[in-house]
Amino acid sequence: MICLGIEGTAHTVGVGIVQDSAPVILANVSCMYAPVSGGIHPRDAANHHAGVVVDVLRQALDEAQMDVEDIDVIGFSMGPGLGPCLRTVATAARSLALYTRKPLVGVNHCIAHLEIGRKMTEARDPVLLYVSGGNTQVIAFLNGRYRVFGETLDIGIGNCLDKFGRELGMPFPAGPAIERKARNGRCYLPLPYPVKGMDVAFSGILTAALAKREEASLPDLCFSLQETCFAMLTEVTERAVAHTGKSEVLLGGGVAANRRLQDMVASMAAARGAASFCPPRSLLVDNGAMIAWTALLMHRHGLTTPVEESHIRQNFRTDEVAVTWRS
Ligand code: ATP
Ligand code: FE2
Repeated sequence: MICLGIEGTAHTVGVGIVQDSAPVILANVSCMYAPVSGGIHPRDAANHHAGVVVDVLRQALDEAQMDVEDIDVIGFSMGPGLGPCLRTVATAARSLALYTRKPLVGVNHCIAHLEIGRKMTEARDPVLLYVSGGNTQVIAFLNGRYRVFGETLDIGIGNCLDKFGRELGMPFPAGPAIERKARNGRCYLPLPYPVKGMDVAFSGILTAALAKREEASLPDLCFSLQETCFAMLTEVTERAVAHTGKSEVLLGGGVAANRRLQDMVASMAAARGAASFCPPRSLLVDNGAMIAWTALLMHRHGLTTPVEESHIRQNFRTDEVAVTWRS
């Protein structure tokens, strides 16, 4: 069984091709839209995706040394995400499914981050800390669904980092540059620490960090921002581990490429006797392979999405999906 998945919830359009035997991933090609200035404009990102999606598809088929006729199932990111981007990619997936007469499977993007981590690491039943530009959630499987145990109440952690970097003249995405600067930080500047039950919030920290820009060095600012935000994320993840009694922690999302966050989560897990797992960067960031793999799992369990029911869902919640492919 070979499945092709198309990702396009935000700034990345990606096509992955996977199979259910080793090697699982046959191709994973991405193309990211980076705005010249300011944040992502959904329409501009969607235009970018429309312009490159066929090329990305061709590259993925070349990488897998396949023709489109060799594909058995077509998966696509149904949501959550930016409406225009989702619509563009869904249109590409529907066209491909109709042309090839192959089944279509609409995939929840957040669940795909968890499933690719389960497949490509040794994690089997983890608590996922999913940290990206637009999303920040702590997710785990309970009673037939992936439940959200904690999440951001305002912006995603990556969005917080990118906005901070943009104000200080760093290129988009700012996360990697902030990580490099933070390594030279020496002095921790107190910042708000808004953990509310299992939830977190970042916009207040962003405002407070920017307000200190005149009085502190850039490395100290970056260091303090990271320490504060990552400690909050580690704290709520730990609470979810304690609550669910699970013994594995998995990382997902572009921000999880950050070594400091990885180290904090790993030492929290070790202190609790739990294992921590982090997939390679190409599978942390938004990618087509995770959509393809989740679509393959769903299809194997009889879940398909008729074209006439394949409308996108901008606010698609993680816990709306009945996860029938896990017992
Ligand atoms: P989603 O649609 O799931 O919200 P996204 O479009 O934000 O995802 P990702 O590729 O998962 O895409 O993540 C991108 C984010 O990851 C950006 O905010 C970027 O700054 C951040 N990031 C990337 N590398 C690092 C790093 N080393 N440290 C911190 N943040 C990072
Ligand atoms: Fe994502």
